[in-house]
Amino acid sequence: MVNSKKRILTGDRPTGALHLGHYVGSLANRVKLQNDYESYIIIADVQALTTHWDKDDHLRNDIMQITEDYLAAGLNPELSTIFIQSMIPEIHELTMYYAMFTMVNVLRHNPTVKTEAAQHGFKEMSYGFLGYPLSQVADISIFKANLVPVGEDQLPHIELARRVIRRFNELYKPVLIEPEALVGEVPRLVGLDGKSKMSKSLGNAIYLCDDARTVQDKVKNAVTDPARIHKNDPGHPEVCTVYEYHSVFNRPELEEIESNCRQGKIGCVECKKNLAVKLNNLLEPMRERRQQYNQAAIKDILMEGTRKAHAAALDTMAEVREAMAINYFDR
Ligand code: TRP
Repeated sequence: MVNSKKRILTGDRPTGALHLGHYVGSLANRVKLQNDYESYIIIADVQALTTHWDKDDHLRNDIMQITEDYLAAGLNPELSTIFIQSMIPEIHELTMYYAMFTMVNVLRHNPTVKTEAAQHGFKEMSYGFLGYPLSQVADISIFKANLVPVGEDQLPHIELARRVIRRFNELYKPVLIEPEALVGEVPRLVGLDGKSKMSKSLGNAIYLCDDARTVQDKVKNAVTDPARIHKNDPGHPEVCTVYEYHSVFNRPELEEIESNCRQGKIGCVECKKNLAVKLNNLLEPMRERRQQYNQAAIKDILMEGTRKAHAAALDTMAEVREAMAINYFDR
């Protein structure tokens, strides 16, 4: 029987270890959804070159690291097909077809691309950087994904995907699927320093691979209400990073923590210790799962996933070439 489950496609650039922000922003969703959807997870190594083209010697390690993080977080390779973007050349073929009817202005107005360009201090943009959202449209559509679980910064790319795919279907034949985005429960987790978001480059992250002691130390140094100097001073949870983390990772005790903090009944040290316990409770099963995979097993999972993904991509490309009437001579 044909598999009638709907499909998910999502993924990440391999740029280092995943942290709690990735987990609550999209990874937790993927783990949940893999039971009900046919799931494809792309490790976008070519997209990583848009900002790290001169640091390609990190890619192999980063690919292994992110795959280990996925498996630790609970992605099951029997349910989620994890694969490497550069090993599916048809993605780049499809990107080129899309490039023919996508206007440069549309790409130039992408707010996420603009923000990233500013973050990296790019005065000029490479063709690949400006165009990476279009390549992402190919990542999604070559698998005919219905749903794309992502962080909120990716929404402009999903909007582009809908637009480009709709256009393709009108121009040629309706063979492609317009996807929907699904944003995680906590679209943007603040960093431990209370500033902006949790991110590797800001040095304010707790990684899924951190050990228990490291988590305790990082939480100990997290920023709390600056107006609270003595343990008995009344606190202001609304400006406290640790409280914000409790609201994500420790819902059941939230009301109690809030009222104790406001009345100065619980000090920051105790409150942080409690949070570290809750975070370690979440991370401990991931640490155990991580132990189950050695490097050879991770590589096998990647190669098997890539083989399966490639077969699916070839099926779509046969339809795409037929729709565009560029399937000359029965190739
Ligand atoms: N742009 C995504 C990121 O930076 C990674 C990515 C590449 C992606 N292709 C994708 C995400 C397709 C969702 C769907 O994390």
